[in-house]
Amino acid sequence: LVGASPAQDLTGRHVVVSAGGTREPLDPVRYLGNRSTGRQGYALARSAAARGAHVTLVAANVTLPDPAGVSVVHVETTDELRTAVREHAASADVVVMAAAVADYRPAAPAASKMKKDGAAGLTIDLVQNPDVLAELAAERLRPGQVVVGFAAETGDAAGSVLEHGRAKARRKQADLLVVNAVGAGRGFGDVGNEVVLLDAEGSTVAEAAGSKDEVAHAVWDAVAAHLR
Ligand code: CTP
Ligand code: CA
Repeated sequence: LVGASPAQDLTGRHVVVSAGGTREPLDPVRYLGNRSTGRQGYALARSAAARGAHVTLVAANVTLPDPAGVSVVHVETTDELRTAVREHAASADVVVMAAAVADYRPAAPAASKMKKDGAAGLTIDLVQNPDVLAELAAERLRPGQVVVGFAAETGDAAGSVLEHGRAKARRKQADLLVVNAVGAGRGFGDVGNEVVLLDAEGSTVAEAAGSKDEVAHAVWDAVAAHLR
């Protein structure tokens, strides 16, 4: 597709993409966060706009420039991201959750800067955040809406990357779950990716490899097939 203009198969569609990684305050100057750069989500937003979509990009702590022709909402916490995504999802044909959402947040963030207390260690109580993707998949804020998730997995003693991905796809009930392998220099911040697209039953729908732009176009190909 490089140099060519892509198919205008998302013309007239409103798509919401979340990108980046949420941060949860510990106190006014510190947070719990993750290393997501937002590059995959930004590539998804750019490529959807190039294919004719009206794009709302909900960006959590991303330092990349706002893509041209895309409406960008900047957020910090999971609560802010959830509110913005749901507000725009109410009128969206497609919602893609590419953001790395913090699984937990401090139960009681301090109102003023925390001070060290002697030589003792520190234990912080965390509570679980709501699962924005699973909520969207269960509620379908707009009838016929296509809901897409991303999962960065590593293999472990309990299963391979793909086994974890298939179990997550069945748990989340999104129309598509884009699974990629992270760790050992793959995934976060990298230029290249290898992904498998799974349906809600955990079956493989498509595979893609290459740059984040190529992965983004493969995701929109699969989404466009759902919309037809
Ligand atoms: N996600 C979400 N809300 C959360 C956590 C995750 O919407 N509180 C979304 C992510 O944006 C992503 C998908 O769910 O699209 C999968 O995220 P992932 O962290 O892989 O899944 P979890 O259910 O959090 O499982 P894990 O225990 O493996 O982190
Ligand atoms: Ca998680």
